[in-house]
Amino acid sequence: MNILFIGDIVGAVGRNALKQQLPSLKTKYRPDIILVNGENAAHGRGITRQIAREFFEWGVHGISMGNHTWDQKEIFDFIDDEPRMVRPANYPPGTPGRGWTTIKGLNGKELVLINLMGRAFLPPLDDPFQKADDILKSLPDRKRPVFVDFHAEATSEKIAMGWHLDGRVAAVVGTHTHVQSHDERVLPGGTAYVTDVGMTGPMNGILGMEKESVLQKFKTSLPVRFVVDEGKWHFHGVAVETDDATGLAKSIKLIRLNEDQFIME
Ligand SMILES: [Fe+2]
Ligand SMILES: [Fe+2]
Repeated sequence: MNILFIGDIVGAVGRNALKQQLPSLKTKYRPDIILVNGENAAHGRGITRQIAREFFEWGVHGISMGNHTWDQKEIFDFIDDEPRMVRPANYPPGTPGRGWTTIKGLNGKELVLINLMGRAFLPPLDDPFQKADDILKSLPDRKRPVFVDFHAEATSEKIAMGWHLDGRVAAVVGTHTHVQSHDERVLPGGTAYVTDVGMTGPMNGILGMEKESVLQKFKTSLPVRFVVDEGKWHFHGVAVETDDATGLAKSIKLIRLNEDQFIME
């Protein structure tokens, strides 16, 4: 099975890049399933029902989230009814939405998408390692690939999750830092791993935000409202190929594009 996962879509610039690039990515990678992280899709903060609907219309099969899940208040109106969207599974019991789901793709292909959030430099949720174990124990069909978006800040915590799940899931990919890391590999047990997929959105700001506002915050330490940036985009994702017999990974490739169509692989 071929899976595309695209890192945090930031604002209108990121959404437009996604819409524009999906047709050529479909031709190049022949994905059975396309996943995106959507936590920054609405002006950099959260996602709306309309944006999620557009992503699905463009061919996205599943959306994962992160610490910005709740930023748009309307999320509470639709997250319970949207089985193609996951928020971090290690929020406490009773939190709206779901932490894992079955995603149906093209050609009858299916996978389990799990979203987890790290605890270093982020709000302290339940233990993501224990939560991952609990979810895997509850899955009935061991042959379906399991794809984990581990939304976390600390590289150590993400590498730890890769080793924790090696041989038990098809992929552990990191999100949240918005900077693509260059450590993609298939771990010895058969789990595709990368510390961070990177972001899709404005390339000349600071993690997708307008640089003046972020600089002001660093220089003054006063409260500053960050504004999502405009201008040229860059686009980051990964292509993972899994073995249908085992549900584990055969390969992982980084995808790194920018608006000037300089393609780096
Ligand atoms: Fe993000
Ligand atoms: Fe995040």
